[in-house]
Amino acid sequence: MSVAKKEYKRITTKTLVDMKSRGEKISMLTAYDFTMAQIVDGAGIDVILVGDSASNVMAGHETTLPITLDQMIYHAASVVRAINRSLVVVDLPFGSYQSDAKEALRSAIRIMKESGGHAVKMEGGKEIKESIKRILNAGIPVMGHLGLTPQSIYKFGTYTVRAKEDAEAQQLKEDALLLEKLGCFAIVLEKVPAKLAEEVAQSVTIPIIGIGAGGGVDGQVLVIHDMLGMNTEFSPRFLRRYLDLHTQMTQALQQYSNDIKSGNFPNENEQY
Ligand code: KIV
Repeated sequence: MSVAKKEYKRITTKTLVDMKSRGEKISMLTAYDFTMAQIVDGAGIDVILVGDSASNVMAGHETTLPITLDQMIYHAASVVRAINRSLVVVDLPFGSYQSDAKEALRSAIRIMKESGGHAVKMEGGKEIKESIKRILNAGIPVMGHLGLTPQSIYKFGTYTVRAKEDAEAQQLKEDALLLEKLGCFAIVLEKVPAKLAEEVAQSVTIPIIGIGAGGGVDGQVLVIHDMLGMNTEFSPRFLRRYLDLHTQMTQALQQYSNDIKSGNFPNENEQY
């Protein structure tokens, strides 16, 4: 007798837009490797972001700038191999889309072809309009990213809340409308005042996924290492830690080491 294979209804970009229109919130988390992605997908998270935050949490860089397109493709391909249901969105890394629209399209095509990801994410508004258009014209779905855009950290000089001043808030609202008009299927809105984020979410029909943008938006995203409590140094106000994995892992590893040194591991049942 054959075992029936479980059928999964895959999340698509349209699913997300429909969820917004029904008032259903969207869950999104980062993942960068096969094993973690299997858990995230199996837990029913709607969107997996292969974020360029891999540069920080996987490679130990101070910023997201050093990660390369090849490295992003490696992470994304590992994630895609694990997926049954979630939509996989892959960050276009710094330097792979800013110089011109043709280069942006080449980078996006490489991600789609070589990783099997379902969409790309790009940081910025009107200044990258031509690149977004070209990628969308090639049939590649684009998620925007406004507010705090970590690839521009050296321009901002700080990771504090963006768009507190009227001029920047106004530009952000215009950028959100522009991204919707161009055809982006969703926008990540990072670290902006909750009231502004809610206004933006109400002004567009595509989902606004917040990180540090309050509860008035259409979904939330966090970096998985942060929400599992693997990092101890990073504790912004918006971060809710669902586990204290740093402590739990440290205790388990110390126990393992103690067991080896005391001769308690392996025991008779753990050998051949
Ligand atoms: O790279 C990333 O993890 C991100 C999220 C913080 C939204 O862009």
